Amino acid sequence: MADIRPETMERITTRALADRFIEEQLAEIKAQVGDKKVLLALSGGVDSSVVAALLIKAIGDNLVCVHVNHGLLRKGEPEMVIKVFREELGANLIYVDAVDRFLDKLAGVDDPETKRKIIGKEFIDVFAEEAAKLDGIAFLGQGTIYPDILESDGVKAHHNVGGLPEDLQFELVEPVKLLYKDEVRVVGSALGLPDSMVYRQPFPGPGLGVRCTGAITRDRLEALREADAIVREEIGKMENVPWQYFAVIPDMQSTGIKDGKRYMGWPVIIRAINTVDAVTAESVEIPWEMLKRMRDRIIATVPGVNRVMWDISDKPVSTIEFE
Ligand code: XMP
Repeated sequence: MADIRPETMERITTRALADRFIEEQLAEIKAQVGDKKVLLALSGGVDSSVVAALLIKAIGDNLVCVHVNHGLLRKGEPEMVIKVFREELGANLIYVDAVDRFLDKLAGVDDPETKRKIIGKEFIDVFAEEAAKLDGIAFLGQGTIYPDILESDGVKAHHNVGGLPEDLQFELVEPVKLLYKDEVRVVGSALGLPDSMVYRQPFPGPGLGVRCTGAITRDRLEALREADAIVREEIGKMENVPWQYFAVIPDMQSTGIKDGKRYMGWPVIIRAINTVDAVTAESVEIPWEMLKRMRDRIIATVPGVNRVMWDISDKPVSTIEFE
């Protein structure tokens, strides 16, 4: 797709430049949307969050946000979206608990691409159903950013499942479509979004679904969510926080021993990588004391887990995610 960012456009690196960008965008959004309504799928990721914050400022209650919980979000994520957007920013937010619906569809499915397709299709169906319940929606807000336009023909993220229904005949509102990720973050901070949202690590559209490998079961998914929260909390304390760090629970069991009896349990795999562009990646050295603390916390508190491992693989040949 054409390079549409004007060469004269200054890179947004400071609060003052972000404030100017925000002022300009508020005027543009108001001119485009008038007193009509805008619908936005709000995942809680950086891009959709910044678009939501901008639209709330521009049009208030005429923005309708839909947050779909597909059951594959990280611990505390839906609560965070509700707290920040509904309670703090006063957004008109529809929260859809679609957990059973997604997990029922995924039951017994072990092929990674089929899992991704099911999650993507279900997301579109849920969103379209919510849109159909609403009257007077004229626009669709989208967190398209400049790399999406340059790299993926304007489609949000190369293999993102967060893509929206193409047959929804709405005009698009894409206020950050000329910005690079670092600029989106500066704008997000200027809009008052918390650092935990603005500077969060990348998280794949299919969420924990690609880290609970093979056929997802509810008990293993819950164990993964808990283990992942511990891993994120601990590794987040490192002086240089890695680019991406998370837990995986593969679809396998190994023997453990408790009260003199052998039993089968899952391993938790810890992964932390640094990268510039996610095309190549290097495994990050985690301090031994931190590894032991994660091991002890996971074994003590996560049911079903009896082994903790550390993935030291680089990309290539290993990808960042497990599926
Ligand atoms: P891989 O595993 O291919 O990941 O080395 C590269 C980067 O892309 C993210 N990723 C995804 N993001 N939907 C997404 O939106 C996906 O299906 C998906 N798969 C991988 C991954 O987290 C890493 O940052």
